[in-house]
Amino acid sequence: MFHAISYNGTREENYELVIKQLQALIDGETNFIANLANASALLNQFLKNINWVGFYLAEGEQLVLGPFQGLPACVRIPFGKGVCGTAAKNQKTELVPDVHLFPGHIACDAASQSEIVVPMIKNGNVIGVLDIDSPIKNRFDDIDQRYLEKFVEVLVASV
Ligand code: SME
Repeated sequence: MFHAISYNGTREENYELVIKQLQALIDGETNFIANLANASALLNQFLKNINWVGFYLAEGEQLVLGPFQGLPACVRIPFGKGVCGTAAKNQKTELVPDVHLFPGHIACDAASQSEIVVPMIKNGNVIGVLDIDSPIKNRFDDIDQRYLEKFVEVLVASV
């Protein structure tokens, strides 16, 4: 059973803790969809000031909506389009302080102001992305990026 805990350390300590929780949640489970579903719920109760968190999974040259928490979202995003498609194409995290300034940004939830997208890479191929939206500008910084990349590494290792 999952017990809610208070994250009352430094930002780094809190991220270390949530990564430990992820490891415990996915331990011994190889179903990737189930693990992504729990990972999105885990991040949703951990991160403050977010309005969408979830995954898109690669299918050919497209990203297809996977497990998430938030409002219904667009289902298919071609590689190279929007923040998610750009992160997938370049195999590089996109940290966007103001989505309105990102050329081609896809507005799924009109409340979104800033966004971070971390690609999931397995054996050199993008298998999907983690996408997190915030209703405030400049929500994500290099600490979020570093630890969310670690978080994604743990998930990818489970596939
Ligand atoms: N804003 C994303 C689309 C996905 S939604 O935010 C959930 C993008 O530009 O790729």
